[in-house]
Amino acid sequence: MPPPLPTASPASITLERVTKRFPGGVVAVDKIDLIVEPGEFFSLLGPSGCGKTTTLRMIAGFEAADEGRVVVGGRDLTHVPVHHRDMGMVFQSYALFPHRTVAENVAFGLRMRGVARPEMAARVASALAQVKLEGYEARRPAELSGGQQQRVALARAIVIRPPVLLCDEPLGALDRKLRQAMQVELKELQRALGVTLVFVTHDQEEALAMSDRIGVMNSGRLEQVGAPADIYDRPRTRFVAEFIGEINLIEGRVHDGGFIAADGRVLPVSSEKGEGAAALALRPEKLRIVSSGAGVIDGVLSDASFLGDQVLYTVTLADGRRLLVKERNPGTGALRQNGSTLGVRWEPRDAVILRNA
Ligand SMILES: Nc1ncnc2c1ncn2[C@@H]1O[C@H](COP(=O)(O)OP(=O)(O)OP(=O)(O)O)[C@@H](O)[C@H]1O
Ligand SMILES: [Mg+2]
Repeated sequence: MPPPLPTASPASITLERVTKRFPGGVVAVDKIDLIVEPGEFFSLLGPSGCGKTTTLRMIAGFEAADEGRVVVGGRDLTHVPVHHRDMGMVFQSYALFPHRTVAENVAFGLRMRGVARPEMAARVASALAQVKLEGYEARRPAELSGGQQQRVALARAIVIRPPVLLCDEPLGALDRKLRQAMQVELKELQRALGVTLVFVTHDQEEALAMSDRIGVMNSGRLEQVGAPADIYDRPRTRFVAEFIGEINLIEGRVHDGGFIAADGRVLPVSSEKGEGAAALALRPEKLRIVSSGAGVIDGVLSDASFLGDQVLYTVTLADGRRLLVKERNPGTGALRQNGSTLGVRWEPRDAVILRNA
């Protein structure tokens, strides 16, 4: 008998010390602990090879965990095969059946579950409407644009009304404009369906824009889990600080509640406990350019890059180190002049101290 259709209510996902080793000694996923809440938009973010796809494949059941447990909606699925897990999955490559029509592609999961024809037709129509593809039922994948194929893949995943939707870089093949439009659509669709979504991406802007929470992965481990603003404003490790956005790191140490840079200068920070080697992390947009002598450090403006809405300045310090400073585009067409000596300052609360491990 085919498995019944899942219920539509979103499920939580719990990973307990989940580990995956591949032959050759690769530990692709290393004791990951994670709870994704029902209805949450959760992104796994990290560089190529950090274990994002492997983690997703273990949630889906395509890959068996070597250690740990995968619990979805309170059910231990660690040893449950993929076709009994009721998850919607969207891959980067879309993986559509090339010789079948859009409607047949979308109906696939329903046919597997033995859904009667009238209900199948109604559900396919509704899924295609949700991804704004009404009228495309009879086309084949080759007759669609990349963005449209992506929507078919999405419709195919949501048509079974899964409690969990897993997406592996689903927007990776789209150009920037379409990608941004699809980001908004996918987020709206996820909210409308109320489905729990685990979204894999290596694009930090995409993760920041779309997610309720982000898990930043590095070498098979979760380095930090938090809301986008937490991850961006309060990174806890150098890896997270450097992977997300641009950042200035100043090496030094914590001493007596303050921060002393390697050159002996005491820099403004909020009071910090403990002692020891650390780096001061400052986002370029948190730095202010002021007149020479009026800041914390003086330097020479060595580059101005126009970014459209902002201008990115490089300020070179006396010892050759560089600070990146972002300012809003003044709108007057006049950028600051290369070669001018100026000061840089910041608010103590905007300085993040990253302790050496
Ligand atoms: N079937 C496999 N056999 C052996 N090693 C594998 C296999 N699949 C993945 N790996 C290795 O496991 C590690 C994690 O791979 P994974 O595909 O999960 O990375 P990823 O974060 O999804 O990367 P990307 O952003 O490039 O897709 C990598 O070192 C990879 O080479
Ligand atoms: Mg991958």
